[in-house]
Amino acid sequence: MRTARKTELNNWNQEFKNINHKNRKYLIKTYGCQMNVHDSERIAFLLEDIGYESTENQNEADIILYNTCMIRENAEVKVYGHLGQLKPLKKERPDLIIGLCGCMMQLNDIRNTIKKKHSHVDLIFGTNNINELPDMIYKHLRDNQFIESIEQNMKIVEDAKEVIHGEAARAYINIMYGCENFCTYCVVPYVRGKETSREPIEILKEVQYLADQGFTEIMLLGQNVNSYGQSLTNPITFTDLLKQIEKVEGIKRIRFMTSHPKDCPQELIDWIAASKKLSTHIHLPVQSGSNKILKKMNRKYTREYYLDLVRRMKEKIPNLSLSTDIIVGFPGETEEDFQDTLKLVDEVGYDQGFMFIYSERPGTVAQKMPEKISRDIQLNRFQLLLDHMYDSFKKKNEAYIGKTVEILVESVSKNNPDRLSGRTDTFKLVHFLGEKNLIGKYVQIKILSANSFSLFGELVERLE
Ligand code: SAH
Ligand code: SF4
Ligand code: F3S
Repeated sequence: MRTARKTELNNWNQEFKNINHKNRKYLIKTYGCQMNVHDSERIAFLLEDIGYESTENQNEADIILYNTCMIRENAEVKVYGHLGQLKPLKKERPDLIIGLCGCMMQLNDIRNTIKKKHSHVDLIFGTNNINELPDMIYKHLRDNQFIESIEQNMKIVEDAKEVIHGEAARAYINIMYGCENFCTYCVVPYVRGKETSREPIEILKEVQYLADQGFTEIMLLGQNVNSYGQSLTNPITFTDLLKQIEKVEGIKRIRFMTSHPKDCPQELIDWIAASKKLSTHIHLPVQSGSNKILKKMNRKYTREYYLDLVRRMKEKIPNLSLSTDIIVGFPGETEEDFQDTLKLVDEVGYDQGFMFIYSERPGTVAQKMPEKISRDIQLNRFQLLLDHMYDSFKKKNEAYIGKTVEILVESVSKNNPDRLSGRTDTFKLVHFLGEKNLIGKYVQIKILSANSFSLFGELVERLE
């Protein structure tokens, strides 16, 4: 963005502040995955850089942005619902700027629907156009016009200094963008574009910058981190990147998400076992336990391969914690296929997981598949799967009772303002009674009880 425009926006915001004795405010509502959460952090940075302040209250916001997701139909429905609710607000305050960004905006049909049916939207920008936001605001204010900016593929322009948010002492880093796996149910390759890795030197600079800012835990993000680096001019493996990051002083814990089972080499498993900083939690989505369905999903591995991978991980990595994603009711899924999934999850014994009912997505291969499963059968299978999974989570969590674990304290617990919560190395959510000044610190907690989703304990010791 041209500096002159940025300066003008800053002046304009300063003038507003002088007249109204307050800054202009922004509200960002984020739907979807960690990628979007991190993109929202970058958007927040850009807005703060031109003088905006954050607010949670839409009545006092001067700009409202929805960072959208369309992984399943209900994500999309939510966005339309919330957008409809903004209509009266815009009528009351025509100066309010309403903007949409994120994955939904990458699709032409969706943008056309928005333009036709939601004329209260002022800005639309894509997942690869985040840096243009100040410029778009400038043009909108100057010309009072609807502005749209969409680019299908990523031109990497991320700057380490844009990542000033994070949670407590944890920060997120994109190591790659997009996905080319084309799992037949999934819309991500169509909305996030070609798989593109960032240069290791840029990632290392960002890790160093975060460490200098006091962050001690980082989470590396990508749709399929295991294939990181293959498309670079000087290819490098994900394991080699992890080994370089390990050397950055000040970083205590390194996490990453998501691993695709098809690209999980033994050298990565060995490094997770050997590293002093890598979390022993691995998110390894299986999606289904049936070979027939895995093939129809284009996952490129078999049930036997996945189980062997898990066996090798368990063998090598002490304290391994496994989580997964599973879809039920995919087209053509018979009772036998579903039973194969139940058997697989019982055999693996997951610590955590996300379970989904198959949702038809526009433009995907699965959308055109026959043998759709009825809603009743989908719901039935979903409930059965939840029962198995929750049992497994509970067993895994109960094994922590009596043990003392180290956690990074993240926040006040959502359901109880007297409690704090944080996560273990194995990504278990732990709640305990403690003072707010512990947020961002590492503490030792003795675990006293557990359910399927959390551990509960008492503070033993604060660490520096
Ligand atoms: N890149 C990651 C996951 C991205 S989406 C991976 O490959 O594992 C997160 C999860 O949403 C997926 O793992 C899948 O379980 C689920 N999902 C994706 N598309 C879906 C659809 N059309 N219906 C139901 N669940 C879906
Ligand atoms: Fe979607 Fe498959 Fe890519 Fe994951 S790997 S984002 S499920 S296409
Ligand atoms: Fe949703 Fe886009 Fe993530 S579709 S799940 S926000 S990559």
